[in-house]
Amino acid sequence: MDTWWIRKRDKLLELAEQYPNAYVYDLESIRSAATAMSSLRSVKRVLYAVKANFNPDVIKVLASVGIDFDCVSLGEIEHLNTVLPDLDKNRILFTPNFAPRDEYVWAIGRGITVTIDNLYPLQQWPELFANREIFIRIDPEQGDGHHEYVVTSGSGSKFGVPLNEVSELKRLATAAGAEVVGIHAHTGSGIVNPKNWQTVANILARVAKHFSGVKTLDLGGGIGVPERTADAPFNLQELDSLLTNFCSDYPQYDLWLEPGRYLVAVAGVLLTRVTQIKGKGADCYIGVNTGINSLIRPALYDAYHEIVNLSRMNEGASKSATVVGPICEAGDKLGINRLLPETQENDVFLIANAGAYGHVMSSNYNLRDIPPEIVICD
Ligand SMILES: Cc1ncc(COP(=O)(O)O)c(C=O)c1O
Repeated sequence: MDTWWIRKRDKLLELAEQYPNAYVYDLESIRSAATAMSSLRSVKRVLYAVKANFNPDVIKVLASVGIDFDCVSLGEIEHLNTVLPDLDKNRILFTPNFAPRDEYVWAIGRGITVTIDNLYPLQQWPELFANREIFIRIDPEQGDGHHEYVVTSGSGSKFGVPLNEVSELKRLATAAGAEVVGIHAHTGSGIVNPKNWQTVANILARVAKHFSGVKTLDLGGGIGVPERTADAPFNLQELDSLLTNFCSDYPQYDLWLEPGRYLVAVAGVLLTRVTQIKGKGADCYIGVNTGINSLIRPALYDAYHEIVNLSRMNEGASKSATVVGPICEAGDKLGINRLLPETQENDVFLIANAGAYGHVMSSNYNLRDIPPEIVICD
């Protein structure tokens, strides 16, 4: 794990003096994840899934190192246009899901490439796609991920055209006068086995054979990040070598990836302060100044986020405690049974890997403030 926050601890403690709670993003860490991903020989384009974190500075730094963008709503496209007014529309892919007709009209009218993820738009609104180049999102029917809620393929998942509908899809696209130029899949989030994308690529290549105009296979995102300090980093080299082999079998296709978390998760931390400490029976609870209103992932996905007492990082971790927020929900737990140093009121706690699906999913639930986002560059 890139523990930039150990190197920058003094800076973070300074920030914690100014803000009761704060998301802090380290641009250097984002740049380095983006550079690692864009240097994969097998991958022609990397599109950042804007949904993961749409902070303007985060978007700008990614654009500056040549990353393109995957948007799932008009709001995301409009936001991109505000943050990067000169961004070429060809650097955006629009991949909505069950969006209303108007959103397709809007995006197509602006010349943005749209991904269709079921037959309905082609059946009901074929006129929108006449003489247009489109992407099709396929369900390769084998998903994976860190939690069932983030598995976006297979039975029970609402995403993608099932493989047995590909012939009908071809008929509808032809009837509409649309040209399928890209085949897309996104099978889940937090996937740690590089073979996933090789399998997806092979399935998409089989689908692509039905469409003579396909130039691109977009293999989606979902690249896992290490959750615990001891976890091995995702093996990008293995991914690259598997996909390089694929490319030598299918040189006619460009491969794209669409990472969200991989680019920004590790770069973000949530800083907060200890409010109260309580023993209850055999359990110890450490209360902090913000909870699942700021970071819902532990409650929503049972996600593990490393929690560190930043004020006492050099003291031995001696006590097991559950770290809870001030939200009136039994599920307001940021970390369960964590080994921490002897902790006191006002100690600064750092919640790691919070740069993706953190601030973007936060709310004012209980009328608690959403932490501000602070960006550090060096
Ligand atoms: C279509 C699409 N692409 C890419 C992503 C990015 O996923 P991750 O943040 O796990 O890389 C998502 C997230 O759900 C998605 O829906």
